[in-house]
Amino acid sequence: MTHSAAPRPLQSRRGAALNGTARVPGDKSISHRALILGALAVGRTRISGLLEGEDVLNTAKAMRALGATVTRLEDGAWAVDGVGVGGLAAPAEPLDFGNSGTGCRLVMGAVAGCPITATFDGDASLRKRPMRRILEPLELMGARALQMAEGGRLPLTLQGAREPLPITYQSPVASAQIKSAVLLAGLAAPGITTVIEPEASRDHTERMLRQFGAEVVSTPSGTHGRRIALTGQPELAGAPVVVPADPSSAAFPLVAALIVPGSEVLLTEVMTNPLRTGLFATLREMGAVIEETPRGGDAGEPMADLRVRATGLRGVTVPPERAPAMIDEYLVLAVAAAFAEGRTVMRGLHELRVKESDRLAATADMLRLNGVAVEIEGDDLIVEGRGAVAGGGVVKTHMDHRIAMSALVMGLAAQKPVGIDDSSFIATSFPDFVPMMQRLGADLS
Ligand code: S3P
Repeated sequence: MTHSAAPRPLQSRRGAALNGTARVPGDKSISHRALILGALAVGRTRISGLLEGEDVLNTAKAMRALGATVTRLEDGAWAVDGVGVGGLAAPAEPLDFGNSGTGCRLVMGAVAGCPITATFDGDASLRKRPMRRILEPLELMGARALQMAEGGRLPLTLQGAREPLPITYQSPVASAQIKSAVLLAGLAAPGITTVIEPEASRDHTERMLRQFGAEVVSTPSGTHGRRIALTGQPELAGAPVVVPADPSSAAFPLVAALIVPGSEVLLTEVMTNPLRTGLFATLREMGAVIEETPRGGDAGEPMADLRVRATGLRGVTVPPERAPAMIDEYLVLAVAAAFAEGRTVMRGLHELRVKESDRLAATADMLRLNGVAVEIEGDDLIVEGRGAVAGGGVVKTHMDHRIAMSALVMGLAAQKPVGIDDSSFIATSFPDFVPMMQRLGADLS
């Protein structure tokens, strides 16, 4: 399956300070989950503030193809009328998840708990990403991969379990996608499905399952891990979801405001779930002042307005156990680190190799190409901050939205402009990134 847009190069340049207020789009993780849980619930789930990015729209299409009624209402909210746990219908066509690992893997979990067969596919980036990590636990629960491409890749045909078994699964990696797939399959199993993760990963699935009426108990396991136990076959009832602004998207204007001299930006209603805010903690250790005004929250998720001003930053060491709480933010942290004074060491980044691109290699390439000294040692990334970045490079984005946005943020403060070969994948998670940054004063075209 292909991405329809032709490559669209873009460039960012150093200019005036960034100023103003912005609300970045709804959280991608919560948006996927609201659509999927809405489809598995009985009754209507009304979602306001859904991220209307390509990744989430592909999940909406998939849930429709699996039998749920998914509509965009006149006021801009979305409604999902669900089919109930275990009630998904076999889709007539392969499900195309485009660029989205989250959509694909979570829906694989939902399908695994239903007696249906579905084929999963995606774009060239998603076709390179590992799916065995999801299949392994789902097969223990009774699902079966009837067909897949070499190396456990998409396209993949999954036969769901007629009578799914509850399991206790010790996940080898801290991955919310693996955990969520097992829990979603476990909804249809009798008894208790348990996931044990080595480090706590984002817990939106657990929080939203509780909002929809399921019993989910989460307890500490080991030093940084968690044990999550779901009681199967609950009466899931549709519930309203208000999607807070995505902290992973807020990261781009936030870092831009820190590195462009004289800037001051207010980012409103940003989700502040502690399993997502590792970047904010790290930037504070580097010397950033991020003022946080709590704003309540919904779907069991806290949120806050964040005010940030340009500040000199210093290099720090980021411990490996923080990685799950900022797994999508290392690219833009590496940009901040390049503008800091001194060395930043980011430890334990093995999972970055299997994201929309190999982000460990891509981050190093992006920085080197723009005159920054950077090394990869094992799973660690080391950036030598010199307080300034030369710029002048054209960065390859490898179908990865976050490389595109990180490189453009770098160009806003670098001595020479920074280009990217293709901006079209930004639409997967942050469709209005360019106009929003331009409104804050960024020179992007
Ligand atoms: C996500 C989990 C993370 C993250 C991804 C969204 C989710 O992946 O990188 O962008 O919504 O569950 P892993 O859990 O595989 O690390």
